[in-house]
Amino acid sequence: MLRTALDLSGRVAVITGAASGIGRSSAQVLAELGAAVVCADINEGGAEATAKLIAEAGGTASAARVDTSSAASVDELVASAVAAHGRLDVMANVAGIMHTSTVIETTDEDLDRVLSVNFKGVFYGCRAAARVMVEQGSGSIVNMASSAIDTTNAGLVCYSTAKTAVVQLTKTLATEVGPNGVRVNAVAPGWTVTGMTGRHWTAEDGTEDEARKAAVAAPMLKMSPLKRVGEPEDIAYAVAYLASDAAKFMTGQILRPNGGVTMPW
Ligand SMILES: NC(=O)c1ccc[n+]([C@@H]2O[C@H](COP(=O)([O-])OP(=O)(O)OC[C@H]3O[C@@H](n4cnc5c(N)ncnc54)[C@H](O)[C@@H]3O)[C@@H](O)[C@H]2O)c1
Repeated sequence: MLRTALDLSGRVAVITGAASGIGRSSAQVLAELGAAVVCADINEGGAEATAKLIAEAGGTASAARVDTSSAASVDELVASAVAAHGRLDVMANVAGIMHTSTVIETTDEDLDRVLSVNFKGVFYGCRAAARVMVEQGSGSIVNMASSAIDTTNAGLVCYSTAKTAVVQLTKTLATEVGPNGVRVNAVAPGWTVTGMTGRHWTAEDGTEDEARKAAVAAPMLKMSPLKRVGEPEDIAYAVAYLASDAAKFMTGQILRPNGGVTMPW
C-alpha cells in the first residue's frame, strides 16, 4: 500500500535548484519513484548533468534554465513543462542561495538578492504551479525552508527572514488551494553537505580539504542527538514523501529532517 502511495508513475515534477545538492537529489529520487522530471536551474549545465544522471539510471528527465528571481522566467518554466507533458503534479521550489552579514552590514543589494531568490523565487514557483494545479484539481507543492526558521543566528538575517517568509507563504497557500485538491508543504532541513555548505572546504578547482570539512561539520554533529549531519538524499526523501500520495493528509506542514537539532512543537 505504501509502495503504491509513493509511486509517482505518470506524474510530472518540476524541480528548481536541480543542478546541485538537495535539488539534484530530489530530482533523482522523484524520478526513481517514476515521475517525469524537469530539472531546472540557473546553472543550465548542472541541470543538464542531473537530467543525464537520471536518464542513465533509467528515469525520465529533461533540463531547463530558470532564474527563479524572475517571475517571467518561472512562469515560462512552468508553461513549457505543461506544454511538454500536459500536466503538472509536483512543483519543488528548492533553489536558494546563502548569504551572511549582520543587519548593520547588510547592503540594499544583498537584501534584495537574497529575498529575490529565497523568498520571491519560491513565491513565483508557488503561484505559477498553483494556477495550473487548481485548474487541474490536483497537485503537490514542496517548498524549501531551513532549520534557520527555528533558530536565531547572528549574521543570517537575510537568509533566515526569507526562509521564515517561505513558511508563511506555504501555510497561506495551503489554506487557499486545499479545497481544490492541491497540497502545499515545506521542508526545513538541518545542516546538509552540499555545494552551499561545501564552499567552506572546497577550492575553486573542486578539491576538498577534508580536515577543514571535519572542522566545519564538528559543531553541527555535536548539536545533533543522532550525531550526524545531513546528506542530500535525507532531504530528498522528505521532498518525495510530501510530493507523493503517501502525504495525502498533509498540507500546510513543515517537515524537519535535521538530525534532531531543533524540535519545535
Ligand atoms: N545545505 C544546507 O545545509 C541547507 C540547509 C537548509 C536549507 N537548505 C536549502 O536547500 C536548498 C538547496 O540548497 P543546497 O544546499 O542544495 O545548495 P546548492 O548550492 O548545492 O544548490 C542550490 C541550487 O540553487 C541554484 N540557484 C541559485 N540561485 C538560483 C536562481 N536564481 N535561479 C535558479 N536556480 C538558482 C544553484 O545554481 C544551485 O544549483 C536551498 O533553498 C537552501 O537554502 C540547505
